[in-house]
Amino acid sequence: MSTAISPTAYNYKVVRQFAIMTVVWGILGMGLGVFIASQLVWPQLNLDLPWTSFGRLRPLHTNLVIFAFGGCALFGTSYYVVQRTCQTRLISDSMAAFTFWGWQAVIVGALITLPMGFTTTKEYAELEWPLAILLAIVWVTYALVFFGTIVKRKTKHIYVGNWFYGAFIVVTAMLHIVNHISLPVSLFKSYSAYAGATDAMIQWWYGHNAVGFFLTTGFLGMMYYFVPKQAERPIYSYRLSIVHFWALITLYIWAGPHHLHYTALPDWAQSLGMVMSIILLAPSWGGMINGMMTLSGAWHKLRTDPILRFLVVSLAFYGMSTFEGPMMAIKTVNSLSHYTDWTIGHVHAGALGWVAMISIGAVYHMIPKLYGRQQMHSVGLINAHFWLATIGTVLYIASMWVNGITQGLMWRAINDDGTLTYSFVEALQASHPGFIVRALGGAFFASGMLLMAYNVYRTVRAANPVEAEEATKIVVVGAH
Ligand code: HEM
Ligand code: HEM
Repeated sequence: MSTAISPTAYNYKVVRQFAIMTVVWGILGMGLGVFIASQLVWPQLNLDLPWTSFGRLRPLHTNLVIFAFGGCALFGTSYYVVQRTCQTRLISDSMAAFTFWGWQAVIVGALITLPMGFTTTKEYAELEWPLAILLAIVWVTYALVFFGTIVKRKTKHIYVGNWFYGAFIVVTAMLHIVNHISLPVSLFKSYSAYAGATDAMIQWWYGHNAVGFFLTTGFLGMMYYFVPKQAERPIYSYRLSIVHFWALITLYIWAGPHHLHYTALPDWAQSLGMVMSIILLAPSWGGMINGMMTLSGAWHKLRTDPILRFLVVSLAFYGMSTFEGPMMAIKTVNSLSHYTDWTIGHVHAGALGWVAMISIGAVYHMIPKLYGRQQMHSVGLINAHFWLATIGTVLYIASMWVNGITQGLMWRAINDDGTLTYSFVEALQASHPGFIVRALGGAFFASGMLLMAYNVYRTVRAANPVEAEEATKIVVVGAH
């Protein structure tokens, strides 16, 4: 087998742009998370202004962390992974640049319109129709760049990470377009094409698959590249990766009704959603186990490599949240957990523990390579970041478990004469200590992001352009 340097090189420019913006949006989105968490502790922080009220800033938080932070991490890593595993440059630099600038434009649009109160009112799909159309155009371009690059690959196989990224791209397009079908009545107001229970079902088919494909499948793509790379071990089982891929994407699409238990949705649909959610545990754990077992023989590296720790702990939280989710999907459990902070804790076990931690690990892995350095400016700071993130996540989810179960039990407590034992305000008062601990946990997590920003800044400032250029050269293994 011979090795040759190809004359063309990888497009790292767009990867660098997305990697840096992952950190920037991470700080803003999580900073806003800490702010709204503080509003729940000190309501005065709503400032008596409509655009700084919790109701308007909460969807801005979710849009910034999911689409800006998570989205930039997914775009950046997928462009990096698809080029390296296909040993070819992205098919079009200008289309890739369009996806970067188009995506940032959508986010800036969200930053302006959501605090102003323009919203479709559909959770995670709040952006009004002009921004939703821009998003769809950017997404279709993304699909063309990604799949076009796969088509012109120099390798025989399509690496499994790309299967996951590919499914995430296709299904996200489908969900976004179907859920956004609506009738515009003015520039910033539209009405959903669906009505009543159908609208709710479409929305939660979208909502749950946004979790399943945007917050899970894409990040599994990331896991399949960065865990083996950082551990310097081959993936534990290629066969398991294929089996759990097909099982995961086949099952996720049915689980949406678990968001609509005890509603006007037909009972059979609720039960179907519950059963599919319970079965979903198996393929979710398939991915988690495959990632964890990749460390076989390399566990000792965890002692010295904080980047690997980020990646492995993210898998632990993935396993935990995908155990908790199926439990919460059981109707009787959901009758206690629904509407309570338990759901919020579950969300952030996935969002902070899994999504954010794996993204942070992947960015730390990529930054030195993108800027021609051997490693990040400070490994000690990565370590400090790791502990802030881990302790922050644990404080967040533990406080929300306590709050959630307290709220659920207080709301359902009934006196002998059938009246409620507690008023809503009493349950709120009981939640106050938990709110404080959650805000503290969030502050831990967000301050870790500030350490990351400083570390990235120092690494980028000391960039070695010659080495960085050299790293973009495509080494085609097996070329003649
Ligand atoms: C410093 C970190 C963070 C803090 C302090 C924080 C705080 C919050 C707060 C206070 C809420 C509203 C809870 C409520 O309505 O009772 C919330 C909602 C939410 N956050 Fe975060 N968050 C953080 C990071 C993240 C990240 C990184 C993600 C995703 C990747 C995320 C995703 C969400 C989602 C999806 C919701 C809505 C949950 C639901 O409706 O059930 N958050 N967050
Ligand atoms: C097998 C995997 C999973 C299952 C079966 C599952 C199930 C559930 C259930 C039953 C709820 C509560 C619905 C309600 O009472 O309203 C929920 C909420 C949620 N889960 Fe999961 N979950 C899983 C994994 C995850 C992961 C990995 C994440 C994040 C990365 C996540 C993010 C969310 C979000 C954001 C919500 C709140 C939705 C909302 O009401 O706004 N889930 N999930």
